[in-house]
Parts: sequence; structure tokens; C-alpha cells
Amino acid sequence: MTATNTTFGGALEQQIEQFKRDRVYKRLNYLDSPQSAWVKMEGRGDVLILSSNNYLGLCDEPAVVEAGIEGLRRFGAGTGSVRFICGTFTIHRELEEALARFVGTESSLSFVSAWNANEGLTATVVEEGDFVLSDALNHASIIDSMRLAKAITKCTTAVYKHGDMADLREKLRGGASARRRLIWTDGVFSMEGAIAKLPDILEIARAHDAIVLVDDSHATGVLGKNGRGTAEHFGVLGEVDVITSTLGKALGGAAGGFVAGPAALADYLTQRSRPQLFSNALPPTVAASTLAAVRLIEDQPERVQRLRDNSRYFREQIIEAGFKPLPGETPIIPIIVGETAAAIQMSDALLEEGVFVTGFGYPVVPQGQARVRCQISAAHSREDLDTAVRAFKKAGQRLKIV
Ligand SMILES: Cc1ncc(COP(=O)(O)O)c(C=O)c1O
Repeated sequence: MTATNTTFGGALEQQIEQFKRDRVYKRLNYLDSPQSAWVKMEGRGDVLILSSNNYLGLCDEPAVVEAGIEGLRRFGAGTGSVRFICGTFTIHRELEEALARFVGTESSLSFVSAWNANEGLTATVVEEGDFVLSDALNHASIIDSMRLAKAITKCTTAVYKHGDMADLREKLRGGASARRRLIWTDGVFSMEGAIAKLPDILEIARAHDAIVLVDDSHATGVLGKNGRGTAEHFGVLGEVDVITSTLGKALGGAAGGFVAGPAALADYLTQRSRPQLFSNALPPTVAASTLAAVRLIEDQPERVQRLRDNSRYFREQIIEAGFKPLPGETPIIPIIVGETAAAIQMSDALLEEGVFVTGFGYPVVPQGQARVRCQISAAHSREDLDTAVRAFKKAGQRLKIV
């Protein structure tokens, strides 16, 4: 090893030690089974999981797994290059048509992640003179996509207070002379489980001639009677200008993302979006299993209802057990425990009881509002949810939280 390498590695090690002292170091838990209601965790055995985005239980659904295997056999591992250079698999076209139909838009284009989709969208469609507004609690990928867009195009950006429509209006008035105005919001905010006030945002956007972009990563397969997302939840399907989402949560949970919108959008991004032009496509195995997941949700909307019923049940039971979840109606149920140390201790104590739930503290969430974030799945049985509540009670009493 050269002296430079040692210095570089040594500096990283020092920083890692600091993370450990600050108690923000993340340890990976290794699983030796598919993601499901229960997983086999290395060194712990069977663990009940309440921290996965496997909302509909499709990660290990046989039809989804088999479709991936069939996709691998039919198309191989991939094309070995980017789509426009060496060809696009027909399974990508089929998936993109299905995704557009599912979220209620004219076209869609897949990316290797929703992170990539958001970055590949904002930096491509925004131009100099545009004004981009973002909810204060939007996902990191939206924030970074705006930073990138700003660096590339010299657009201007602003942040409005989370869910504050008066602030959104005021900020939009400030951008009245911009060439165009764009509003970026999460459909469901991942740390809170709160749903964006989409009808209000659409109305305000119309009044200010603005374009609405919604990241529905935690809403696709989750919100609305048929799981078609935030727009379906509010009865405004087809009214959102652009929807982005992930394939890595409810839609089979592998990885991947997409942008959906007007007919020309997918074509425009194919021409201009740098992740499309300079990076390989979604693996065909993933395209095939996601397509199977979308078809399954379309055929079995009762899965979405089961997710809703499970979420309501867990929320009621955990309140009855003396905990204080943030109010809401999504499967993201954050339970406020106070200080960061309490969230970490609670998460550790729950794991000792055989329940895997992640704790989040400051600065990820505001000071004094540290939380363990529960995520409910259609894969959970009532017995699983009762087991989780019992573990919460035991751990909470031990730590004097309840
Ligand atoms: C709102 C939101 N957008 C984007 C992403 C990124 O998704 P992906 O894992 O597909 O990059 C996430 C994942 O946590 C998310 O919660």
C-alpha cells in the first residue's frame, strides 16, 4: 500500500471513529432469507421486520420471483451498454407502458433507481430562468436533483415550509417573473408518513401557472383504492404533470425507478437525460419482476386494502399500548420517543425482543422528536402485529417510555 493510500484510508478511519463516538454510525444487519414479514438475520435468527418498504409483500411473491427468473433466461443479464447505443429490451417497453397506465399518465421511462429518475428529470427539463420550489421535507434525491439543475442550468430555487400552502403561495409570487415555475413534492413524506396536500398544490399551481412534480415512492402501490398513488387517493388521477416513483418499495422491492408524464416526456428524457444517455438500463430481470408486480396489484387490489387495514389496526393497538405515533393514515407509523439516545435504545431493545425497527434521531428529525419508524406491510398477519405491539410494550416499559 502506498503512503497516500494509508493517509487516505487513515483519515476515513478517523472519521468513522468519530461517527461511532457521536453514535451516528450505522451497522448493517445481514439477512439470509428473502424480505418478508419475518427474515432470517445473521446472528439473531428469525426476526419480525417493521422497517421495510415491502408494503404489499411482493418481494418474495412467487409470481414476481418467477417472472424475474424467466426474464433472466429470456433476455440474459443485460445489454452491456446504454439503451440508445445497443438496443432496448421489449420488456422495458412493456414495463413502461404498464407503469404509465398504472399511475395515470401518457408515458413513462424507467431508470436504475428513483434517485436516478429524480436527478435525471430535474436537471434535464429545467432551463435557465426557471424557478423550482421544493417542500422542506422532500427526499434527499429531490434536493440533490435541484442542486444539480441549478449548477447546470442556472435556474433559481426556493424551499417552502413543509405542507404550508400559504408559504407556497408567497414563494410562488416571488417567482412570478420566472420563465416557468415548478413545484416538487413528495406524495408521502417518508419520515412523517404525512400525505402531501395535493388538491391544494394543484389548485395553487394552476393559479400561478406552475408545473407539479410528485415523487410517489412511498405512495405507489400504497395510496388510493387500487394503489395508484397520491393522485388516486385524492381523486385527481391524470391531473399531476409529472410523477416519479421507485420500483424498490411496493412494486416488488428490487430496485429501479421511473418518471411518468405527458406523451412527449419519456421521449424527451430518452433524448436528453444524462443517466439515460450515459448509463445502462434497468436489468431485464428487474423489469420483468416489476411488470409482474404491477399486474398483480391491478388484478388483486385487495392487497392494498389489506395494507390499509393492517396499518389502521397497528396504529390503534400501539396507541392503546400507551405510545404516541404521529397522526396519519399511511403505513409509515413513526413513534415519538423523545431524545436520540432513547430512539437508539428502543430500536436495540426491540431487536432483542426479535422485532427489527429502525430508530431515527437528530439531525435526521428535529431535536426532541427522535422516533422509531414502523412500516406496516400487507404481508404481516394480525398475529405478527400483535407480536410487535407486545415487544413494544416490553421494551417501552423497560426503558420507561410507557
Ligand atoms: C421519496 C423517495 N424518493 C426517492 C427515493 C429513492 O428511491 P430509490 O431507492 O429507488 O433510489 C426514496 C427512497 O428512500 C424515497 O423515499
